[in-house]
Amino acid sequence: MGNCCGARFKAEIHNVSASVASSKYVSKDASGLSASSSKGSSASVPPTVRSEGEILQSSSLKSFSFGDLKSATRNFRPDSVLGEGGFGSVYKGWIDELTFVATKPGTGIVIAVKRLNQEGYQGHKEWLAEVNYLGQLDHPNLVKLIGYCLEDEQRLLVYEFMPRGSLENHLFRRGSFSLSWKLRMKVALGAAKGLAFLHSDQVRVIYRDFKTSNVLLDSNYNAKLSDFGLAKDGPTGDKSHVSTRVMGTYGYAAPEYLATGHLTAKSDIYSFGVVLLEMLSGRRAIDKNRPPGEHILVDWARPYLSNKRRILRVLDTRIEGQYSLGEAFKAATIALQCLSTEAKFRPTMGEVVLALEDLQNNRVSDPNTKIQDISYKDHNSGKVGTEKTNNAKASYPRPSASLLFS
Ligand SMILES: Nc1ncnc2c1ncn2[C@@H]1O[C@H](COP(=O)(O)OP(=O)(O)OP(=O)(O)O)[C@@H](O)[C@H]1O
Ligand SMILES: [Mg+2]
Repeated sequence: MGNCCGARFKAEIHNVSASVASSKYVSKDASGLSASSSKGSSASVPPTVRSEGEILQSSSLKSFSFGDLKSATRNFRPDSVLGEGGFGSVYKGWIDELTFVATKPGTGIVIAVKRLNQEGYQGHKEWLAEVNYLGQLDHPNLVKLIGYCLEDEQRLLVYEFMPRGSLENHLFRRGSFSLSWKLRMKVALGAAKGLAFLHSDQVRVIYRDFKTSNVLLDSNYNAKLSDFGLAKDGPTGDKSHVSTRVMGTYGYAAPEYLATGHLTAKSDIYSFGVVLLEMLSGRRAIDKNRPPGEHILVDWARPYLSNKRRILRVLDTRIEGQYSLGEAFKAATIALQCLSTEAKFRPTMGEVVLALEDLQNNRVSDPNTKIQDISYKDHNSGKVGTEKTNNAKASYPRPSASLLFS
């Protein structure tokens, strides 16, 4: 679970909000709703500005009554809790596949019901953003939203059940069966495909909360992204959003987004690099229980990633012997490139997918290649990138989505 310590916290970054007034690209709500948007008419699915009514009437989603979901989860029984996050608790339930009526446990289809336990507008906005994005998007690497419930103060979301839970649980839960190297790479590829789909020209969505607890796994370890509460329609061209409120999860947010509030798809790519590094190392993005100097995974691991002889220092000892040095180096190189301090030197998610596919198909480049030799053309700038040091420091321990400054 990403949220072991409870409530989210709120704040504004005033220096950033000052620049919003003059920004051409007005930052939208988390819901994707906005009174003013400068998006051109060429924008495609789902960057449409829709009213709450339009979102909720989205034909593919089932509107459940609170009573339906109460029955499906046997009155939100504590023993059916699948996990807890900043939004609320997630329960396991059963419904009939055709009628959507609650059924006995073990019959019909299994669902995951997320119940908002937080009052206020932010919770509603995130709930609506999830309905807006997941209600419109359909991809094998995005979790399927079946429906929602909006009744008085109640806000719930109904998803397909993901039997193997979150990547976070597999990597970090005590006593959990450790994922093999092969499965880790499969999950990385699946998650990368989900992000690449979101970033594609047809969709153009910035996910903004990519982390291990939001990568869910089906019975075959296919990865699916969940949680679109913080997602935003991506700006067109090379422009970025300027957020009045920097939202996300400490340890995963890109340094330039933390520093300036500028949000682009490259922020997601940085977060992907953090998650890939967590998968390679079996260490959390932020872990205050580690010795001094090792609390922030990216800062600690970065020097080892670029050196083939030292790379084993970073790799999870639980998967020792399951990969070749060439494979480990290639995966570390992808992570390092995603973690480039300068956003323009990060690859696109499309490039990451290709690199991970090569890795899966054993197309590992010359094992003698040194990281210093690996550079790639940045598609937007046309420049060739090289790595620089990351100075971003984050120290908040819990990996739960929130406003990132107070
Ligand atoms: N569709 C699902 N199927 C199975 N388990 C799920 C599903 N959705 C969520 N879960 C479980 O519930 C947990 C809580 O999910 P939730 O998205 O509410 O919070 P989180 O991702 O842990 O934290 P945050 O609120 O910061 O995003 C997940 O980590 C996962 O273990
Ligand atoms: Mg989540």
